[in-house]
Amino acid sequence: LTLSSGVMAQRYVVGTNASFPPFEYVEAGEIVGFDIDIVKAIADLQGFEVEFRDLSFDSLVPGLASGSLDLVAAGMTISEQRKKVVSFSEPYYSANQSVLVHQDSEEDLTVLFGDNDIGVQTGTTGDAWVRNKLIKADILTGEIRNYDSFVFVIRDLANKNIDAAVLDKPVAETYSKNNPVKVVAEVITGEEYGIAVSKNNEELRQKLNEGLAKLKENGTMDQLIEKHFE
Ligand code: ARG
Repeated sequence: LTLSSGVMAQRYVVGTNASFPPFEYVEAGEIVGFDIDIVKAIADLQGFEVEFRDLSFDSLVPGLASGSLDLVAAGMTISEQRKKVVSFSEPYYSANQSVLVHQDSEEDLTVLFGDNDIGVQTGTTGDAWVRNKLIKADILTGEIRNYDSFVFVIRDLANKNIDAAVLDKPVAETYSKNNPVKVVAEVITGEEYGIAVSKNNEELRQKLNEGLAKLKENGTMDQLIEKHFE
């Protein structure tokens, strides 16, 4: 019989979508990456425990709203629209969107015009950008193809089933290292990633902000950037 004295550490459920390297991806059956390391480091510093769940990206904000998730670490862009439903920590990373094509393709950003099929991850800012800036404006007359996982976006691009993909540039660059795909354009959207929590969890948001500040101060953030981005 084991009895523990004192208060048990608070345990939080962290939602992510692990098809977003180097922020979160699956390696040897485990969820790893920059965001995962950040959350683990904050948990250590702030004295709580975490458990990660790999879910579809578009179920993460609803998961916070319904209470099945306590926080979301998923390279999630801080946006006005999402802020209506959830709260965000201070920003911890900046990124733009980008256009990815097959390495044999001779097109550049012209691939976004006309009758091409573009892959996106459902519910992402890239998805919204293609719909609002390209399809509504009749710039793109081909199809937008929606996926739950970037693993399948990249697979379809490598197989030439789609003509291009729109996704965050650091992730596009990471995929282009091990797949027959290349980044041909950057879309300057000036996005900033934050860790999301439910609206009524100001206490957890404070713990995350304190943790992030400490990681920046004690050099851990720089070490993690060096570890995950060369
Ligand atoms: N930054 C983009 C957004 O917030 C894409 C994030 C996708 N993240 C992921 N883990 N699949 O919409």
